[in-house]
Amino acid sequence: MRTCPPAIPLLLSAAMGCAASTGSSPSLRTGSEPSPRSGRPDPHSYSDPRQARVSDVALDLDVRFERRVLEGAAILTLERLVPEPLDLVLDTRDLEISSVESQGTGEGFAAAPFRLGSRDAILGAPLTIRLPAGALRVRVAYRTSPNASGLQWLNPEQTAARTAPYLFTQSQAIHARSWIPLQDTPGVRQTYSASIRVPEGATALMSASREARGADGSFRFRMTQPIPSYLVALAVGHVGFESLGPRSGVWTEPPVLTKAAHEFADTEAMISAAEELFGPYRWERYELLVLPPSFPYGGMENPRLTFATPTILAGDRSLVDVVAHELAHSWSGNLVTNSEWADFWLNEGFTTYCEHRIVERVFGAERAEMEWVLGRQSLDETLRTLPPADQILRRDVSGRDPDEALTQLAYDKGALFLRTLERAVGRPRFDAFLQEWFDRYAFHSVSTKEFLAFLDDRLFSGSRPASLAVDAWLFQPGLPANAVPAHSAAFDRVDAASEEWLAGKRSAASLPAAAWTTHEWLRFLGALPRDLARDRAAELDAAFAISSTGNAEVLFQWLLVEIRSGRAGSEERLEAFLTSMGRRKYLKPLYEALVRTPAGRQRALAIYRRARPGYHPIAVETVDKIVGWNP
Ligand code: BES
Ligand code: ZN
Repeated sequence: MRTCPPAIPLLLSAAMGCAASTGSSPSLRTGSEPSPRSGRPDPHSYSDPRQARVSDVALDLDVRFERRVLEGAAILTLERLVPEPLDLVLDTRDLEISSVESQGTGEGFAAAPFRLGSRDAILGAPLTIRLPAGALRVRVAYRTSPNASGLQWLNPEQTAARTAPYLFTQSQAIHARSWIPLQDTPGVRQTYSASIRVPEGATALMSASREARGADGSFRFRMTQPIPSYLVALAVGHVGFESLGPRSGVWTEPPVLTKAAHEFADTEAMISAAEELFGPYRWERYELLVLPPSFPYGGMENPRLTFATPTILAGDRSLVDVVAHELAHSWSGNLVTNSEWADFWLNEGFTTYCEHRIVERVFGAERAEMEWVLGRQSLDETLRTLPPADQILRRDVSGRDPDEALTQLAYDKGALFLRTLERAVGRPRFDAFLQEWFDRYAFHSVSTKEFLAFLDDRLFSGSRPASLAVDAWLFQPGLPANAVPAHSAAFDRVDAASEEWLAGKRSAASLPAAAWTTHEWLRFLGALPRDLARDRAAELDAAFAISSTGNAEVLFQWLLVEIRSGRAGSEERLEAFLTSMGRRKYLKPLYEALVRTPAGRQRALAIYRRARPGYHPIAVETVDKIVGWNP
């Protein structure tokens, strides 16, 4: 607990429970510390934007690699909805707060009473600040923890060039609070600016436009469009840039740059396709940053600067659906945002649908259809494993850690729901509806309820056919019967060959796999029986050296097949894979498959012991639970 700032007038201090005579008592006792789930609009935030909302964040931070901390201040500008003095509650997690000041119109900053509440394991700690009537700005001086959940600090050895340390943030879903004190809810949008000081030779990048360097050498940024907190992003490292087109380009470490630029050559075409489909691209530039391999996601749609894993650099552009996906978020998610995490499908279901549409336009219907089929395969798998309550698109996730509660269901079921609507009303009408949706709610945060109202109004003029089963799609478990089936003739051929091989009618070597694309390989591996015998797995690897593939997605599927078959063949490859990248989508299923047998659990623990120090805090949280980490 903090001591009373001396600047606080005696009366106010006394009223707030401060012993003004000694100045040693807590500066602020609200008497009613916000409890974790107290009927606020967003159950994952302590803030109450109905009283005051943050409209701008100005960051001034030093990046201190030696101590693994960010240190400096955030000035928050507020839009006040109640004029009286009020307790402003911000979200924080493991922040060390050194001072809080507030400012009214035309006055200087003056110390403000504040109190950092107790830490909830999921939500972090509420920072309650007593704001005088009329105060429109607060300045919080703070320092992050070396273990901040939204930051990963890398040693030089964890980077491609191995010469300099690296830092990157991951704010979605509720990690922005671990590096900025703010109203950490997607229901609040803010503009932001930043001044970031980094060591000599390092470059800072943010999800904002770059401005001229400051007189002190600081990197300066400005985001003039209001965005939710989960899209504030920062990366610091030794990186270079290569242009991809008039408004696109890629950043990454120099040893990776040529490969990355080659992989993403179709980015500009994707932007144009997306504009034709969804309306103008509103963020001026679209750049990518390829991070070191410990980045825990495939991609993260930080505005103007998608963060991406290097595992999508397959060499043959076969995994760039991730780029189509993150680019699509420039409309669904970044422009029109889910107002709380219960509405996550509005971000990811829309985006997955839009991703498939972009792929169709840029790479053709056949490839898009393959992705729809793979999505359906993934959905069937998800439905097999999730309890009914978690099979609902719009579902209550309060009291749960979003990193665990937000699943693949929102992606594939959400996308299929929209495809089913598209089929029902026809493409031209549905496309017009989509554009209207992005236009009407641009720079707004929306709920499923608002989506339903808009749908009924614009697409069905108030009389929506019951046969569409819209309520079942949104509020019931399972899959409604009107789901549009996905079908790929190329996959039918893969399946037929696979069945012949499984039935012993042909050898592995005679499979027509030489001509298979990555997607066909993914189909083949994903559709193999769970109990494939280990000698059958060995036969496949002998014929095609799948365990030596340079394609991370194929390798991942292959390693799953091997683990399930009980084959130990590619042990080294598995260990190398798990210790060389930290993408959660790969880590989670592989560790889960391993721990199913006692011997596998031992192996998982042995590998994890080596790998864990290199994983991102978000991945560590996930894998700790899977393997029962208990050092
Ligand atoms: N926004 C998500 C990543 C995310 C979701 C981070 C929830 C934290 C919480 C991103 O757009 C995404 O979905 N990435 C996918 C790739 C995509 C092609 C499905 C991933 O990381 O695998
Ligand atoms: Zn996404």
